[in-house]
Amino acid sequence: MKVLLTGGLGFIGSHTCVELLNDGYDVVVIDNLSNSKMTMIDKIKEITKKDFSFYNIDYRDRNALEEVFEKEKVEAVINFAGFKAVGESVKEPLMYYDNNVCGAICLLETMKKYNVKKFVFSSSATVYGNPDVVPITEEAKIGRATNPYGTTKLVIEYILDDLYKSDNTWDIVVLRYFNPIGAHESGLIGEEPNGIPNNLMPYVTRVAKGVLEKLSVFGNDYNTHDGTGVRDYIHVVDLAKGHIKAIEKLDKENKGFFVYNLGTGKGYSVLDIVNAFKEENNVDVPYVIAPRRPGDIDSCYSDPTKAKNELGFVARRTLKDMVRDSWNYQLKN
Ligand code: NAD
Ligand code: UD1
Repeated sequence: MKVLLTGGLGFIGSHTCVELLNDGYDVVVIDNLSNSKMTMIDKIKEITKKDFSFYNIDYRDRNALEEVFEKEKVEAVINFAGFKAVGESVKEPLMYYDNNVCGAICLLETMKKYNVKKFVFSSSATVYGNPDVVPITEEAKIGRATNPYGTTKLVIEYILDDLYKSDNTWDIVVLRYFNPIGAHESGLIGEEPNGIPNNLMPYVTRVAKGVLEKLSVFGNDYNTHDGTGVRDYIHVVDLAKGHIKAIEKLDKENKGFFVYNLGTGKGYSVLDIVNAFKEENNVDVPYVIAPRRPGDIDSCYSDPTKAKNELGFVARRTLKDMVRDSWNYQLKN
């Protein structure tokens, strides 16, 4: 099967590209390099010893996209392309709606034109907003995203739902990721945020390396076991394997619209992460307790049962694996 990855040179896309190639899929990647580098191509090829096609195009460029569909005869699409920085989305909402929502519409229209109707979408636990209960099942209410980035994910989910209702020959899997961290065990590919990281793990690795002075732990008065925020961290290689399961489902069972959480089902606090990182890697991570970050919530972790039962997906990698591989990537890059 030939699978097109938009944004396939990014953090999650590159790891998924590796898993698809390793599993024998043909892969076509498009990426406009707005948050990734060309060097990623050689790294993916080095890990997999396999080749794939790459197009440096914007997925909002309909003509360029049509040329790819014309030439490549892809059978399924995984849409990773998009912007993902929450703070930036608050400052530049139009840029986020344009790239994420208009891009997705352009992609879906092109797919429709070429009768390619198998689609996997990168959504986020952010669509649950502040959940009423944890662990969060797919049945939980959505629709309360607290920032424009989160709203782009919600809007695209609604678009996909409407699309499927209008034409049930589409096969769609929406994957709601929890908090992806870690890196490929080779240390060749990993997360490369621009500027000062917003997310916890890239910040921790930079503090451990001495690039940043200390971590600010945002709040220690949350209603959690140690007062710091609890999240469901999932190894990016496990997450990538979740996409293979989604593609397998679309290949086997035609006609369907499915939504799955991709998480581990376990919640770890900020201090759990810091302590595991220090212990496993034998390196210090200086930190201070700082005020809460606006918009943050106490606890967010998944109920992963539906993905297990329907996709056969279980995240196998442990917290130790995640902190070790994150550090390995930082050391090698
Ligand atoms: P990333 O920024 O590393 O990867 C996105 C890739 O898309 C980049 O290579 C970028 O250059 C490319 N891109 C962006 N706009 C494009 C455009 N208009 N045309 C072509 N390429 C474009 O992000 P990631 O962490 O790999 O996330 C992938 C997807 O998963 C995103 O949609 C993101 O919103 C979603 N997601 C990520 C997380 C996370 O924590 N990383 C959590 C939930 C959901
Ligand atoms: C963030 C985004 C979310 C996105 C997700 C994955 C926000 C409000 N939410 O989620 O939309 O889907 O990333 O990309 O940005 N922390 C610190 N110090 C730091 C950084 C983080 O203490 O320097 C804490 C946070 O308060 C939180 C935890 O670490 O408790 C995880 O934070 P982060 O990695 O930013 O992810 P989320 O906030 O869960």
